[in-house]
This record gives sequence, structure tokens and C-alpha cells, in this order.
Amino acid sequence: MSLDKSVLQVKEFYNTYNDKFLSVYGNVIQAFRTNNVEDYLEYTFNSIGFKPEELVLDAGCGVCGPAAYFANKIDNLRIEACTISEAQFHAGKTILSDNDLNGQVNLFLHDYNQLEDKYPSESFNRIYFLESFGHSRNQNALINSCWNLLKEGGVLYIKDLFRREFDDEWKQLRADEIVESINRAYSYCVPELNSLLTALRKLGFLIEFIKMPDIDKNDFERLSISNEFQELFGVDKIKSWKNYIFPIDFFEVKVVKPEKFDTNNHLYFLNK
Ligand SMILES: C[S@@+](CC[C@H](N)C(=O)[O-])C[C@H]1O[C@@H](n2cnc3c(N)ncnc32)[C@H](O)[C@@H]1O
Repeated sequence: MSLDKSVLQVKEFYNTYNDKFLSVYGNVIQAFRTNNVEDYLEYTFNSIGFKPEELVLDAGCGVCGPAAYFANKIDNLRIEACTISEAQFHAGKTILSDNDLNGQVNLFLHDYNQLEDKYPSESFNRIYFLESFGHSRNQNALINSCWNLLKEGGVLYIKDLFRREFDDEWKQLRADEIVESINRAYSYCVPELNSLLTALRKLGFLIEFIKMPDIDKNDFERLSISNEFQELFGVDKIKSWKNYIFPIDFFEVKVVKPEKFDTNNHLYFLNK
């Protein structure tokens, strides 16, 4: 499999920082979390809405902290979990073995932009990205391949950070600068919510919901883990809080590939 330069950068980033991520984040590598990270995994489990006997894809699985949690909840849920980093792959294998989950979670090294080389169309009941979608430089093509890989009635769930929008031109410029520095530091491409929605709707996905993660603000970890990581390792360290504008929003986007999809016939006329 040949990898794009941007994908190689992401791979290198997680190989280099794997130990540091593990030491600060543990096995759930997400900025938006709850004080007790298991509460957030439970919230995510319910939000994604897994059902028994499904085959699901964890696109950008880290070290399988979330996949292990979900698989432990439903015995016959099968998860294909994909990372681009060898270091995460080895750490993830250990976590799965320790939890006796190797039969339920198949962890593999692959570029999630190229999954159609590995799986036939309509393989999955659900595909989810937990703060991993934004690593793709070709987000519309990635959405397209998710559409192909999902069965009819299948669900795509993306939780990520999205560029914030302002009416005030100065604030927008400042926020965009900060987004650019996040992109550089984390080999990211912070998604635009409107572009993502347009791409999803053009394909025919039906929107189930778009929302900020619905957790009690007292339970919110307040990004302290990300700040600690930045402080400790200098990755995108914030030099001054003067003029700092919070540059992103966190959203969950959940969409469904409709059954019996017909581009010429709108959903509301299916029974006509
Ligand atoms: C911020 S981490 C999130 C990890 C995991 N979802 C979690 O919640 O712990 C981003 C993940 O996306 C993966 N990733 C980024 N680009 C990828 C690609 N092209 N193919 C496969 N995985 C990728 C990284 O290897 C990493 O595991």
C-alpha cells in the first residue's frame, strides 16, 4: 500500500508521540472527554447506538481504548479497528490480549483512506471516527468510501473538532490562525461543518443528528488533558492567552445510509 505524504506524516506523528500520548491520555486519545473517561465512553457507546451481531469499523482507533470498551459491552459485536501507526498497533494488541478481546476486535494497520482495497462494498453496519476524521486531507473522498462500505441502513458517526465561525472578521482571522497552528502541530485538517454536511447530503446520507456532546458541564474534563500534553511536550503550546480565541467547536455528526436508496426519489415519496 503506498501512502500519501500527509498520511506518512500522521503515521510518523503517532509513532513518535505514542508513549507520551499513553502517559497523558491513557488509552482514549481524545481532547473532549469527561473527568471520568469511562463516562465519556459510555456516552459514546449510546450515541453510536451499537446493536448485537453488527460488524463495525473503528476508523482511526488509537490503541483500541474505545473499541475494547464497546466490545466488552456486547459479546457478539465485531469491530474492525484500524490505525496508521505501528506503535499504536503494538500497544493496542497488548490491550486487546489483556482484555481477551482478540476474537472480537480485529486490529490492523491500514490507511483508512484506502479501505475499499481491503473490504467489499456494503461490509459494515456502522463506521465511526472518534477525533480521527480530521487527519484526512481528502475528507470528501473518505465520506464517499464510507458510503460504499456501509450496508443499506448503515450508520456513519463522526465526533470531531470543527472550525468555529464568527461574525466578527478579526475574531475569525485570529481563530483561523490558531486552527492553522493546530493543523500544523497535529498533522490535522480541522474539518468545516458546512462542507462536511454538504458532502454527506450530496451522497444521500440522512442526518440523524448534529450536536455538541451532551454531557453535564460539571463532568467535562475542560480539555485539561490536551493542555497538559501541550505543556509537557511543547506540541502547539499556547505561548500567550492574550487575544486567545477558542477556535473550534466539538460536534457529533450521525448520519444514516438509507435503505432502498433511489437518487430520483426523495425519502418522503418512497411510498408513493
Ligand atoms: C486523536 S487519535 C484518536 C484515537 C482513537 N479514536 C481514540 O479515541 O482513542 C487519531 C487516530 O487516527 C488515526 N489515523 C489518522 N490518520 C489515519 C489514517 N490515514 N489511517 C488510519 N488511521 C489514521 C491515528 O493513527 C490515531 O489512531
